[in-house]
Amino acid sequence: MNTTSARPPHPDEPGLRPIRPDDAADVLAAFASATDMARQGGVTSLDTAAHYLATLLDGPHVVFGVTVHDRVVGAVGISIDQPNRNGWLWYWMHAGFHGRGWTTRAAATVADWALTDGGLDRLELGHRVNNPASESVARTAGFVPEGLERRKLLVEGDRVDVLTYGRLVDDPWPTVARLPLEHR
Ligand SMILES: CC(C)(COP(=O)(O)OP(=O)(O)OC[C@H]1O[C@@H](n2cnc3c(N)ncnc32)[C@H](O)[C@@H]1OP(=O)(O)O)[C@@H](O)C(=O)NCCC(=O)NCCS
Repeated sequence: MNTTSARPPHPDEPGLRPIRPDDAADVLAAFASATDMARQGGVTSLDTAAHYLATLLDGPHVVFGVTVHDRVVGAVGISIDQPNRNGWLWYWMHAGFHGRGWTTRAAATVADWALTDGGLDRLELGHRVNNPASESVARTAGFVPEGLERRKLLVEGDRVDVLTYGRLVDDPWPTVARLPLEHR
């Protein structure tokens, strides 16, 4: 087991560990917690949550759950483009745990891991221009704005611009506090 923090987590503080098939009920609860989770995947039942996890566990992804008492309340994932040593980073958090800074800390921690032990040189992410919480997460986790993709997404009938970011292996590391991370 590798950890990025020598300090063990307080039992009520979040940590990061790889997602598992038995996280399906927690994933379903997170997707049911807010309507904007629908854009993260088609999770509407225990079966679709299990399928969502199976797809992430089988594909070119590394996905960490943000956990409290080993229950998943959020996730930070990286979809890996190995030939280019690039990764697309994404995140979500159960609405009941928003605004605690946990997604920001988790995104910074997972990005650090990806650019060191994970062997990647570049991480990318993008968010709708009308998602200021995601913008705050991206910037505070050390991602540098790179551009704007015009009318990239179709959201409830409207075409919406997307802001894009990158974090390179030799970019300055962010100063936000990290979370304990467990990786096998
Ligand atoms: C985006 C999301 C992951 C943020 O999760 P979170 O746990 O609340 O994030 P954090 O608490 O780490 O940080 C949120 C930041 O956004 C800020 N924020 C939240 N709502 C905001 C708003 N309406 N306007 C401006 N800033 C806002 C918070 O103040 C905080 O910034 P701060 O730490 O500088 O105060 C969460 O809203 C989510 O899961 N949304 C649905 C899925 C999604 O949109 N994922 C991202 C796809 S690109």
